[in-house]
Parts: sequence; C-alpha cells; structure tokens
Amino acid sequence: MLIGLKEILEPAKEGKYAVPAFNVYNMETVMGIAQAAEELRAPVIFQVYSRLFEQGKGEYLSPLILETAKKLSVPAAFHLDHGSGEAAVLRALRNGASGIMIDASLKPLEGNIAETGRIVSLCGEVGVDVEGELGHVGSTGDESQSPFTEVAEAKRFVEETGVCALAVMIGTAHGKYKKAPKLQIERAREISQAVGIPLVLHGGSGVPDDQVRAAIGAGVAKVNFGTDVCCSFLDSVFEVSRQVIALDLFMNEPIQAVKRFAMEKIRLLGADGHV
Ligand code: 13P
Ligand code: ZN
Repeated sequence: MLIGLKEILEPAKEGKYAVPAFNVYNMETVMGIAQAAEELRAPVIFQVYSRLFEQGKGEYLSPLILETAKKLSVPAAFHLDHGSGEAAVLRALRNGASGIMIDASLKPLEGNIAETGRIVSLCGEVGVDVEGELGHVGSTGDESQSPFTEVAEAKRFVEETGVCALAVMIGTAHGKYKKAPKLQIERAREISQAVGIPLVLHGGSGVPDDQVRAAIGAGVAKVNFGTDVCCSFLDSVFEVSRQVIALDLFMNEPIQAVKRFAMEKIRLLGADGHV
C-alpha cells in the first residue's frame, strides 16, 4: 500500500530498524525491489532522482511506481530524491510522490533553512512530508569531503523548517568508495537526540555492514542505495547471453539480480518481518 514518508519512517525509528530507500530507474529495478519487499514482509521506499524529473523520464516511471506501491501488501512510499528546487518538487507531486526531498545542502545555513522551509510549506498544502539535508553528502569523486553536520545547526534546521526526516553528513558519499568510509556514529547519535526525527543515511552503497548497523542504532531510519541498485542490474545484464533477443526474457535474470540485492539490504537494515 502507498503511504507517506513520515508514516513509513516513524515506526522504523521506534523499532530501531531502517527502511531501505532504493533509487529506481526502470520497470525491472521496480519489479526486483517490489518482489523483495513483498517476500520479506518489509516496508520499502522507491525513490527517483530529481534528474529524471528534469529530463522528462519521471513521467514514464512514476505511474509504474505508483501502481506497484498501491498493489503491494507491504507499506511503500514513492519519494523524490535530492529535489533540486520547486519545479522538480511540483513535477514529483503532480506524478503522485508521497514523499519529497529538497536538497539545498550546498547553500549556507540560512539559505538552506529558507529554501527547505518554503518547500515544506508548499508540500504541506497537499499533505506530503519532506526530507531535508544539512551538511553536504558529496560524491566519492570529490576532491575533499564536506564538513560533518553540526548538532546545534541540525536542531535549529529541524525546528525552523519542519522537515520530517534529516539527511546528515556523517562520512558517507555517493558512488563507489575508493576505500571504506568511516562513519561518525557518535555524532549521528547526538544529532538524533537533539532533533528527535529520523535521520537519513545517503551514499549507502559500499558502507560496511557493521557501520550501517551502528548508524541505525544511533538514529538512522532510512538508508539510501543507488549505485549498487545499478550495479546489481548492470552486472547481470552483461552476463545474459546475446542469443536472448526478446527483451522481456532478456530481463528475467537482471530482475532476479536486483531482487537478491534488495533482499540482502532489507535484512541488513532489519526491515524484514515488520508488516
Ligand atoms: P549511493 O549511490 O552511493 O548508494 O547513494 C544513494 C543515495 O544517497 C541516493 O540519494
Ligand atoms: Zn543521496
């Protein structure tokens, strides 16, 4: 069943598990993830990068996600990931998103609060809750790492914007890590205690399992996986024989590969068996 971002995250925070948020790109990634969630009785978030809405792809993908989420017997949210501004947010809402992320994390604190607060008000008009980001989670290809999220700033950010979930910079990055990251678990715990809302861990692909578990223990209730969704799908695509021509048959194995990947992460996050 399709539910909102806040509704799906609050039980996770209470129950000390995290909801996996998988970036999806096509029918096959949606199918593999849906089958994994259904089989393991886990809540799940399908999320779509802002770029797909900016490049006219979100309109094709959204109906597929919406129908899948509605049909599932487990709770599922449809989320805009790293919303770049009002235009992307409006497009995602128009296409049925039940959660919105606005990423103004490259702006100075005041600007981030102003932009995020504005989007929270806008989405509030249609009853959709918002994830914000404070401290910038960059890319594994960046020259240097951004500073970690400050506890006092996080408290102010959450109070003044009204976000329902907070993405924090505690040492992760987007993409394939060159060497394993070292997460700031104590800082996450302090932020969590100060803000009282679920924290979000971006850059989940490649984070060692013990650090993911520790982050959940410290207040993370949503973990994002993008790169490894792509890799599980693509690795399989390149293995399927060129003799298979019919695309639906060609895609059978990649769907199963995405499903196996999603099942592994659902179990890691302790999200299985919660519904
Ligand atoms: P990865 O691509 O590193 O898994 O990060 C995903 C993410 O944070 C999506 O917002
Ligand atoms: Zn991210």
